[in-house]
Amino acid sequence: MRFIKTLFRHFKLISIATIVAIVVVLGGWLLSKYLSPNLPVQSNPAASSNLVSPNPTSSSPSLATPAAPTDATDATNKPDPTQQPHVSGKPYLGHFPYPEADRSRLMIITSYAKGEYQRFESMDIEAGKALMKLIYAARDEGVWIIPVSGFRSVEQQSKLFKAQIERRGSEQEAAKLSAPPGYSEHATGYAVDLTDGKFPKQDVKFEFEQTDAFRWLTLHAKEYGFEMSFPQGNAQGVSYEPWHWRFVGSSSAAQLFGRSTN
Ligand code: DAL
Ligand code: ZN
Repeated sequence: MRFIKTLFRHFKLISIATIVAIVVVLGGWLLSKYLSPNLPVQSNPAASSNLVSPNPTSSSPSLATPAAPTDATDATNKPDPTQQPHVSGKPYLGHFPYPEADRSRLMIITSYAKGEYQRFESMDIEAGKALMKLIYAARDEGVWIIPVSGFRSVEQQSKLFKAQIERRGSEQEAAKLSAPPGYSEHATGYAVDLTDGKFPKQDVKFEFEQTDAFRWLTLHAKEYGFEMSFPQGNAQGVSYEPWHWRFVGSSSAAQLFGRSTN
């Protein structure tokens, strides 16, 4: 009898505890349902129309947050030369505007590999073929010419120009060494930086002019349709670049660089 009484007392306690628990859970659910704000569920934020990926070819979507102007000068219409090519047709900081090459016309002119790192350089096919002839002709005379940098996209040039601004302190100073994006001859696929295979450390350095490759180029590049773009004291005010050559050996190429005052 005593056992049944104890069991009944425990049963009463368990029942009361269960009812209290149900009331608490139910109350909480009702409160959260009717008092919290109605937030929409966004499963894929990148799909939202006002968010854009700056790199449409990238497989992993990244979100761009538009920056608000921080002061009055930011609100002007001045284009940012590190972001977009100028399309006015006028020179900018001593450089002429150039269209980006037709990528279907690019041919590989050289490649590099170091461990996992791999890089291919290319040029427009007519400039590339002329360069191959030039390289073979130089080789026959014991001179080893190596292409270092050919076609560059506007995006690549933009990165280079930004880095140059950081190093040199201003756009004006940066532009003496690197063209603003949209203004580089490299974008056309008709320009190339060259070095001497026997002195590879002297690429894109003034000392390149003391190499056999440079001496050979000054004598023979013209025969293959090439000319130096930025000789000493050039009218554009761009720093002397003995390594930077452009192809002007066809009517389309000559037309492309026809605006140059060199
Ligand atoms: N270094 C030349 C000027 C260029 O960036 O195109
Ligand atoms: Zn160059």
